[in-house]
Amino acid sequence: MPKVTFIDLEGKSHQCDIANGLSVMEGAIAGGVPGILAICGGSCACSTCHAYVDDAWADKVGGPNEIEDATLDLANDRRTHSRLTCQITMQPEFEGLVIHVAKND
Ligand code: FES
Repeated sequence: MPKVTFIDLEGKSHQCDIANGLSVMEGAIAGGVPGILAICGGSCACSTCHAYVDDAWADKVGGPNEIEDATLDLANDRRTHSRLTCQITMQPEFEGLVIHVAKND
């Protein structure tokens, strides 16, 4: 299973194994990563799974689609590499992915 490293708001890193086909959000919740709330359960409606894709991974992961883009406008402190982690589906190419948790409240 691909490993994803989450950096939380305090700079602490959390490594999670996330099966291909699951969302990055699902992996974060299963791994107890603080700050990923996912209140809507992954339906792209709440923005509380907001995070920043690490600069080194941004091209590979890509940007949001139109629906995600609209929901991201609800997020706190949206930045260039903001994504909703419920909308990033794990695949083998994402082995080693690094995600920075945003301030979700
Ligand atoms: S879990 Fe609600 S938008 Fe991702």
